[in-house]
Amino acid sequence: MIRKELCKIVSQDEIAQDIFELVVEAELVNEISEPGQFVHIRVSNSWDPSLRRPISISSYDKKSKKLTMIYRKEGKGTSLLAKMKPGMDLDILGPLGNGFPVDKVDAGETVLLVGGGIGVPPLHELSNQLKAKGVNVIHILGFQTESAVFYENEFMKNGETFVTTVDGTYGRKGFVTDVMKELTFDSIYTCGPTPMLRAIQQNYQDKKLFLSLEERMGCGVGACFACVCKKADDPQGVSYKKVCSDGPVFRAGEVVI
Ligand code: FES
Repeated sequence: MIRKELCKIVSQDEIAQDIFELVVEAELVNEISEPGQFVHIRVSNSWDPSLRRPISISSYDKKSKKLTMIYRKEGKGTSLLAKMKPGMDLDILGPLGNGFPVDKVDAGETVLLVGGGIGVPPLHELSNQLKAKGVNVIHILGFQTESAVFYENEFMKNGETFVTTVDGTYGRKGFVTDVMKELTFDSIYTCGPTPMLRAIQQNYQDKKLFLSLEERMGCGVGACFACVCKKADDPQGVSYKKVCSDGPVFRAGEVVI
């Protein structure tokens, strides 16, 4: 069930350049069903900016009711959010969308988690849950440059972790797909920019593959049509899927990307 709640900020830290980790106490953690769901945060009480901002859930703990989110400060809304301090109240709507299906892989399988930039956070809770289930998880985290790298140590706790940077200032120089070519695995879960998702979908049609789309959003609850994408079985037609409510996670080949 989707809830709207005023949540107390526990902490907020800049963990890489313009990347913020925000922890709140929230009853709505009890409603989260899958890793990869997201929330919509109201960043201001005024009408400017009036829309909520979609923010990734990176991990949660139903016992302590802690909800950890990670976002990039890149516009007016997220700049306002970055100024908020522990102890303040935050208006959060969620959990929204579907998540990564943890039940689609079995203990003993080797599963690749591939994240690009701000697509990395939703994979953290997924990694925790797959590891707890006995899945062998391997992570590939892609960033533009060293100052943008975050959560390498958190992922390393669960399994082998490769970091790539486009400019080669940290980890392997190049793209996540370069590392993928060298590895053996059964299934893939991925989240990141569309060109990265498209390349992975094209190159690994023989694998079980789930993709989380980063899409411009408005309402977050299926009402405004800001996030529609075409269904793969009807690319010229009139039927479509909404990323916010039918996704953001889709099976490979389900929608046109
Ligand atoms: Fe409004 Fe998806 S964001 S319908």
